[in-house]
Amino acid sequence: MRIASRAERIEPFYVMEVAKAASALAREVAHTDRPMVFLNIGEPDFTAPPLVQEAAARAVREGLTQYTQATGLEPLRERISGWYRQRFGVDVPARRIVVTAGASAALQLACLALIDAGDEVLMPDPSYPCNRHFVSAADGRAVLVPTTAQERFQLSAAQVEAHWGGRTRGVLLASPSNPTGTSIEPGELRRIHDVVSRHGGVTLVDEIYLGLSHDPAFGQTALAIDDQVISVNSFSKYFNMTGWRLGWLVVPEALVPVVERLAQNLFICPSTVAQHAALACFEPDSIAEYERRRAEFKARRDWFIPQLQALGLQVPVVPDGAFYAWADCGDWCARLGLPGSWEFAFEVMRRAHLAVTPGRDFGSADTRRFIRFSTASSMAQLQEAVARLRALRDAAS
Ligand SMILES: Cc1ncc(COP(=O)(O)O)c(C=O)c1O
Repeated sequence: MRIASRAERIEPFYVMEVAKAASALAREVAHTDRPMVFLNIGEPDFTAPPLVQEAAARAVREGLTQYTQATGLEPLRERISGWYRQRFGVDVPARRIVVTAGASAALQLACLALIDAGDEVLMPDPSYPCNRHFVSAADGRAVLVPTTAQERFQLSAAQVEAHWGGRTRGVLLASPSNPTGTSIEPGELRRIHDVVSRHGGVTLVDEIYLGLSHDPAFGQTALAIDDQVISVNSFSKYFNMTGWRLGWLVVPEALVPVVERLAQNLFICPSTVAQHAALACFEPDSIAEYERRRAEFKARRDWFIPQLQALGLQVPVVPDGAFYAWADCGDWCARLGLPGSWEFAFEVMRRAHLAVTPGRDFGSADTRRFIRFSTASSMAQLQEAVARLRALRDAAS
């Protein structure tokens, strides 16, 4: 059967190969004294808090399960708007908010609304792999610009200017980023948006980890810059609802009918049960619980990063948000006689029963030297991982 070139262009998600191998090994070692420890998964170990669970059950019981507006339930759009006002002091009217099936659908809608065949979108290397695939699914081309620790692994205004070409349509940034957990310095983001606007382009910012910001210097939404910035967000990470498939997109007012038309045709609406449940995310008790969990993520970061550094797995930029550590395993590879982080991930899996994510999926700039640890697992799991890495290092020296 002939496969569309669009589908052929989408690269495999190599992370899933590691995850598959890790799951197979996990079954084998489940009943040994060293069961598998998973630090490869970018998913909170918490589930939705009690009020959210109750709201979902109530919606099912009361039969609130019909389609909603393609843009989402009005009260939910209002509550998201209120969240921007209370938490960030930014006025984002509900009419600019489109509720979606996760950030993934929001990114897909934004790309389909704005990208024509052959358009190019600048994004940092390393970055979340699916983001470049959303661009290519819209027949655009993601142009990965190598970044360094000096720029917090983010694009700078100077780089955006230098790489802007005849086909460039805009930038797709993630702040805080997956895999690095680092954000763009707010002044730099304004300068990037200035460059993009001067060229008549689009600034699209994936803010899915914004709620999990650990540093007030960075935890501001790009929507504070002006009403032309497009922002993607989600209930997956801060709100601990990955499998519920709910997120949102904030667009300039003129774009709402375009996105609505696409959403009506492609998805009809996001999950109605999930939307009713999400209304309870903004209750004071739920927010208090989310804030306790955010503090727990920060405590894990504060403990784990120095441990990695002490083990010789340098983290060049301390993450200011999310739950990742982007660590340089170059010295370890040299000591273990391994060519790069892909082989390192399999070695650590085999010898320490520890699953981590090799850099390969996130780009090509320096990713053979880097691995991503997720700190979305319990402190006990992080402590066990560090103990096993220490034992592996001692055995290799
Ligand atoms: C940067 C980034 N954007 C988007 C997504 C997709 O999230 P969602 O579950 O909301 O579709 C992820 C998921 O890990 C992510 O890390």
